Amino acid sequence: MLSDLLVVTGGTPLTGEVRVRGAKNLVSKAMVAAVLGHTPSRMFDVPRIRDVEIVRGLLELHGVRVTDGDLDGELIFDPSNVERAGIDEINVHAGSSRIPILLCGPLLHRLGHAFIPDLGGCHIGPRPIDFHLEALRQFGAIVDKTPEGLHLSAPNGLHGIKFTLDYPSVGATEQILLTAVLAEGVTELANAAVEPEIVDLICVLQKMGAIIKVHTNRVIEIEGVPRLTGFSHRPIPDRIEAASWASAALATKGDILVRGARQADMMTYLNVFRSIGGSYEVDDDPVAGGIRFWHPGGDLRPVVIETDVHPGFMTDWQQPLVVALTQANGLSVVHETVYENRFGYTNALNQMGATIQVYGECLGGAACRFGRRGFRHSAVIAGPAKLHAHDLVIPDLRAGFSHLIAALAAEGTSRVHGVDLINRGYEDFEAKLAGLGARAERPVTQAA
Ligand code: EPU
Repeated sequence: MLSDLLVVTGGTPLTGEVRVRGAKNLVSKAMVAAVLGHTPSRMFDVPRIRDVEIVRGLLELHGVRVTDGDLDGELIFDPSNVERAGIDEINVHAGSSRIPILLCGPLLHRLGHAFIPDLGGCHIGPRPIDFHLEALRQFGAIVDKTPEGLHLSAPNGLHGIKFTLDYPSVGATEQILLTAVLAEGVTELANAAVEPEIVDLICVLQKMGAIIKVHTNRVIEIEGVPRLTGFSHRPIPDRIEAASWASAALATKGDILVRGARQADMMTYLNVFRSIGGSYEVDDDPVAGGIRFWHPGGDLRPVVIETDVHPGFMTDWQQPLVVALTQANGLSVVHETVYENRFGYTNALNQMGATIQVYGECLGGAACRFGRRGFRHSAVIAGPAKLHAHDLVIPDLRAGFSHLIAALAAEGTSRVHGVDLINRGYEDFEAKLAGLGARAERPVTQAA
């Protein structure tokens, strides 16, 4: 039996190539969109990751027939028999993912009722769903919160709304899109998130027959239509995974070609990568292309960055990058403005020899909504630090990947516990690591 432990010996530069497939944060939402159609949908380049398995399980529980297509990574969704699922069966998925909340609109449209279990996802702050529930109520849903989960119904159907988000939340924007496309009348959403994954979801919905206009200043207008069909879609590549490998190349003084990575989605990351002293080269070939990232030798430079909604520096890029910043010559500042509690992982880096201080003030940028409220959301990283091996426990997906990079950049052998969590968002990461020359092994344990 394989354990959930990876034994990692650091000190070898990661070199070689990896391929990224469809973005986790689009694929899972497009799978939910398939429920809205009356004919089958088809998606290509779907990564084999745990989050996709969870959403597949949830769709199957609701009567969607999900089958593998002929091509590697091709999935087909047949929603002709969408039906209510048992609460106990749905609850098996409680706590495992945040995607179930996005099923509210599609299930209300198809069945007039939805049950949503307790949500999961990474523990990076309280992650409320108040925007989602407020919008759903305005669409006409009745939301009943019970100890077992949320029961929603729409006895009078769902009708278009005029809604302004207090913050451009990705999930709430998706919730409103997935609900408004079949709601009666027009929905106008202000202060919407416009991440590339959202634009790609809009492309999916448009292929299904939706009418969605993206205006200037984060305003999205959706004209409800009575019926949607299935779609055929090749998702945008995973820009979070691509940046994770890029940061790994920098932190380990390596050289990684990330096939499938796309420049347009990563411009902000690429600017920071270059400012630090990393080198990259873009190959635009639609099939074999990608971006090669490497450490050109010499000292890395410190940076001051602030995470933000698109087109800002993604919050999911910061954890792997911080490991690379421990190797830069001087003081770097990272101001996290999307989540209030996303620096917990730096304790482990400090135990490995890094010098990272986390502050409650908004450092290095404009004041954000977390300032002066006791949230430790700005980090100062002093480098270069000589990292040494340590026993690590993976706390969440992105922090987990940064722990792995730190172990690969450190001298000595680290024991990294809880690595299965990384399968939630990184396809075949162990095979990819092996292909890059990493020394990382799972010890074989005896079955109990
Ligand atoms: N927020 C509220 N109320 C709400 C919804 C959000 O206050 O009802 C707040 C959150 O607490 C947070 C901020 O708004 O402070 C942004 O949250 P958002 O809703 O944008 O995040 P999300 O939809 O839950 C998705 C990704 C995250 C990614 C964020 C930001 C998925 C499945 N998850 O989360 O990805 O960090 O957008 O880009 O798409 C990851 O992939 O590891 C991951 C955590």
